[in-house]
Amino acid sequence: MASVFVPDLLRGQAALVTGGGSGIGAGIARALAAQGAQVALLGRRAEKLQEVAAAIVAAGGQARCYAVDVRHDDRVAEAVQDAASAFGRLDIVVNAAAGNFLAPAASLSANGFRAVVDIDLCGTFNVCRAALPHLRVRGGSIVNITAIQASVPTPLQCHAGAAKAGMAKLTRDLALEWASARIRVNAVAPGPIEHTEGMARLAPGEWAERMRARVPLGRYGSIHEVCEAVVFLCSPAAAFITGATLLVDGGTALLGAGPWLDLMAG
Ligand code: HXC
Ligand code: NAP
Repeated sequence: MASVFVPDLLRGQAALVTGGGSGIGAGIARALAAQGAQVALLGRRAEKLQEVAAAIVAAGGQARCYAVDVRHDDRVAEAVQDAASAFGRLDIVVNAAAGNFLAPAASLSANGFRAVVDIDLCGTFNVCRAALPHLRVRGGSIVNITAIQASVPTPLQCHAGAAKAGMAKLTRDLALEWASARIRVNAVAPGPIEHTEGMARLAPGEWAERMRARVPLGRYGSIHEVCEAVVFLCSPAAAFITGATLLVDGGTALLGAGPWLDLMAG
């Protein structure tokens, strides 16, 4: 789908997108490339990354792949260094890598809680920290993909909610610390987005229609709509915006935990 933004907004810039091999992260990588940025894709499954890279190249863009787990800070640092060297710069970082599943807190194991916090929150820190020396050369933009569950209490997702809340706080702390280096740090908090692994896991089966019916704007959002928010935050139009969270949720957060409690009530 075409962007509402003028073309080539990001021509000459280089971006790194974690979770770029699928879903929202893949959409963001393609959207940044469509705006002229060179893009590095980072995730665990090489074949998924290569599929997205091939689509970017077929559309006339440039892409590199890094099959790396964001929990491994040393591997992350190597990948970021390699991408910045290959592109000659790094201007944009998008942290979309995440894990989630439905589980009641009462039966969630310590390792299950830790795995999600490690991927979402610690992984985001690892990537931001590794990118700092490159971003500070010319200034840059970091966008962290959080979720409305960062602020809305949500049953069966305490692990992901805590991880995303941590990311939201990290976004504001880094925005303050790194503003003097002209690095803007913002977040995009999606609500339910169609055709994603996230919603397949969080609202499976008949829950999907019931959740859709509760969204104030009457539908799930699209990956394209999340991408447009990210492109905006990376663009000169957002040059004075840092420490912000942009909700892309059709108004779902306005309802609090209601929709989730209704799903569980049957
Ligand atoms: C309970 C579970 C579980 C489940 C895993 N675990 N799945 N516990 N219910 N459904 C537990 C395991 O038993 C284990 O604990 C621990 O979690 C780690 O499991 P591993 O499989 O070893 O972890 P790992 O291979 O690192 O995989 C991470 C993962 C996995 C998060 C568990 O699902 C994954 O890789 N997901 C990536 C894709 C994904 O989730 N996409 C959706 C993102 S959507 P024990 O104690 O047995 O060792 C999203 C929406 C955000 O984030 C909105 C909400 C905030
Ligand atoms: P997705 O396709 O499963 O995206 C998650 C990505 O993260 C995958 O590409 C996965 O690739 C990667 N990843 C997971 N663990 C990783 C690790 N340890 N190291 C590196 N990469 C890892 O799900 P999605 O629904 O599109 O979600 C994308 C982002 O949007 C996530 O941050 C999610 O929390 C957020 N979000 C989604 C929704 C929604 O409605 N879908 C709502 C709110 C927020 P590998 O498995 O190959 O590593």
